Order: sequence, then structure tokens, then C-alpha cells
Amino acid sequence: MTEKLLNKITQGDCLKLLKQIPDNSIDMTFADPPFNLKKGYNSYKDSLKLQEYLNWCEQWITEMVRITKPSGSIFVHNIPKWLTYYAAFLNKQADFKHWISWDAPTAPMGKSLQPGHYGILFYAKDVKQLKYYEIRHPHKRTRKERILAKDYGGKKFMLHPFGPLVSDVWTDIHRIKHNKFRDEHPCQLPIHLLERIILMSTDEGDIVLDPFNGTGTTAIAARRLGRQYIGFDLDDHYVKITKNKLENVKPISKIGDRWVSFYLDEVVTLRNDDWDYLKDFYYIPANVEEVDTKQIVLKTKVKIKTPQKSLLTVNGNDTGNRLDFRNQTALFEPTVQYRPNDNRHVQKRKAVHNKGLIKTTVITVKKRKNSK
Ligand SMILES: C[S@@+](CC[C@H](N)C(=O)[O-])C[C@H]1O[C@@H](n2cnc3c(N)ncnc32)[C@H](O)[C@@H]1O
Repeated sequence: MTEKLLNKITQGDCLKLLKQIPDNSIDMTFADPPFNLKKGYNSYKDSLKLQEYLNWCEQWITEMVRITKPSGSIFVHNIPKWLTYYAAFLNKQADFKHWISWDAPTAPMGKSLQPGHYGILFYAKDVKQLKYYEIRHPHKRTRKERILAKDYGGKKFMLHPFGPLVSDVWTDIHRIKHNKFRDEHPCQLPIHLLERIILMSTDEGDIVLDPFNGTGTTAIAARRLGRQYIGFDLDDHYVKITKNKLENVKPISKIGDRWVSFYLDEVVTLRNDDWDYLKDFYYIPANVEEVDTKQIVLKTKVKIKTPQKSLLTVNGNDTGNRLDFRNQTALFEPTVQYRPNDNRHVQKRKAVHNKGLIKTTVITVKKRKNSK
């Protein structure tokens, strides 16, 4: 039954374990299965015959739909080639919502038309009952000048201070680039990718299930956002790595009492419905058109560290170093110390000379007495 598996990562074959989950009991299911591309997993052999792979995929997809609540969502991540088959399976049993294209840039060299994006299929178990929240991400800005990358022309007065609603093309989330964030696993997803999906489709306390846990991205994202989780993986070492990481993860990814997703101390996803509340935590220019050249900033610096890799290795060696969460603080616990609507500070642009280039930076300075 679900209680035995709830808030745990269980080693085993997902097809067998999924059978233990009752119908219509999970709020969101997310799967990132092996891609059948001969990836170097620790134990799983990632090279089935085409029809064998497809038959197997149809079985776990059918199980995912069965266990998802009528108000729930089903997400499947893979390369476009396999998603075309998955969509055909899913169209028979659930309602299509979106094909999200996750633009995960490749190295600047190589062949033309090499895969530059992954797809994430988003299906509703029943579109009429679906739980779904609109979400926003920060405006895309140029790397040096930090001005808006998009030219809104005469429509700047309509700018949202934080950023636009996300579309079905996600270009703002990178694959894990640094080894310090990567476990010994060949295809670990970034936590804020899963946090975005979780914020879009679930509420606090809801249950999120991932049948291909890997080193625990979904479970960690769920716990950081105050959700419950269930994870399965064939490989005992990946399960151990995940458990090791989860020991240190707390439900802290919030501002005040609203759940948000962070990357490198910046909010990268928030719910549209929460903006009226969250806006008081930011310095926002009185004239919204200024957002074109000024990035809004949080009134207090946030310390939410991106969890680093587990130093538990696949061959079971533990170097003794646990994850470094020392700088992680329960976010905005002291909400009272903020002064929503505090306008004693203003943002200015400061010219900085950097290797011969003049760069402008937004700085926050105290207003002088008597200044408006
Ligand atoms: C693409 S990886 C998932 C990575 C994960 N999303 C992460 O961010 O760490 C696929 C995982 O599925 C696991 N796996 C393969 N076959 C499985 C099965 N039948 N049941 C459960 N897990 C399986 C592999 O061991 C591997 O860790």
C-alpha cells in the first residue's frame, strides 16, 4: 500500500512496485526513463531491442495513468523520438495538455540538427478536473547590460515586474553543467526543472511519484516544496545516494508562506496567483516600464543553496563528506523583519569599468532624507 512507500525511495523494478499503488491515488507522476541509448548506468543495461523497449514503456505509462488521481497530471521526459511513441500510448488513456520543449543547449560545435532540446509530455488524467497553476519565470536579460532581451516596443507599460508566464518552450533552465552539482549518475536532471513542474501541478502535501528516481531529483524537489514523494529505482546505489541527500533536505523553498523555486539564490519560478503577495518582498520601480533596464531585486538576500552532489559513490565508498548545506537557511522565517512597501531604498544604475568595457549594474541604495 502507499503508506509503506510514502516519503521513501524504494529499490526495485518500477513495474512491480507500481502495482502496489492503488488506482487514482497520486497527485502527480513524473517519469524520466532510460533513453535506450546505451547510457552508462551503474547496473541497468540501456540497450533493448526497439519493440521490447516500446512494449516495456507502454506498460509503465499505463501504470502511471492508472495510479494518477482524476485531478492529477502525468509528465514524461525523453528525447523527441521516444515521445512520439509515448504520445500515441497516452492519447488512448489521458488528455493531452502540452509538449514542453526543454532547450538544453549543446556544445557550440557538432553536426547540424543535432538534438538541442528534450521534450516533456504533459497529460491530464481528466482535463476537466485537472489541478493546474499558471507560473511565471524572470524576464530574459542580456548577459552584460542586463536589459530585457525582448523588445516590447510600445507595450512596455504592460510588462509584468517579475517576468512572463512560461510558454511551452523552456530556455532558462540549463542541464547540470558543473561536476560539483552532479552525482555519479549519467543523466541527472536539475532540481529547479522538477520544482517548476511541481509548482505548476500540485499543492503542499500532495504526493509526487517518480518510477525512475535516479539520484532523487524529483524527491528532493518535492521535499523542498513541502510535497510528499515516492521514488523507485532498480539500482541500490542510486537509492543510497538519494537517501543520503534527502537526509539534509528540508521544506525551505519559500518566501513568506508561498512556495517558490530558486536557482543560485534567485527565484526562477513562482505561481501567478502568488504575485500579489510576493511583490511586497521585492523592490519594484514605480514606473513598470523601467523593468526594461532594471531587474527587480529581493529586499533581503536569500541563502538557498543548490544542493551539491552526494559524495557517496556508486561503488559504495563514502568519502565522509556529506552534502554541504551549512549556508542553507530556512527562507524568510523572519518575515517580520521585512517591510513590505518599504520604499526607503531605491535602485540606481552604476557604471562599472570591466576590462575596458563599461558595464552597468543595478545597485540598491538608501534614499536620502527628504528625497521622494
Ligand atoms: C534517466 S535516469 C533518471 C534520472 C533522474 N531523473 C535523476 O534526475 O536523477 C533512469 C533511471 O531509471 C532506473 N531504472 C531503469 N530501469 C528501471 C526499472 N525497471 N525500475 C526502476 N528503475 C529503473 C535507472 O537505474 C536510472 O537510474
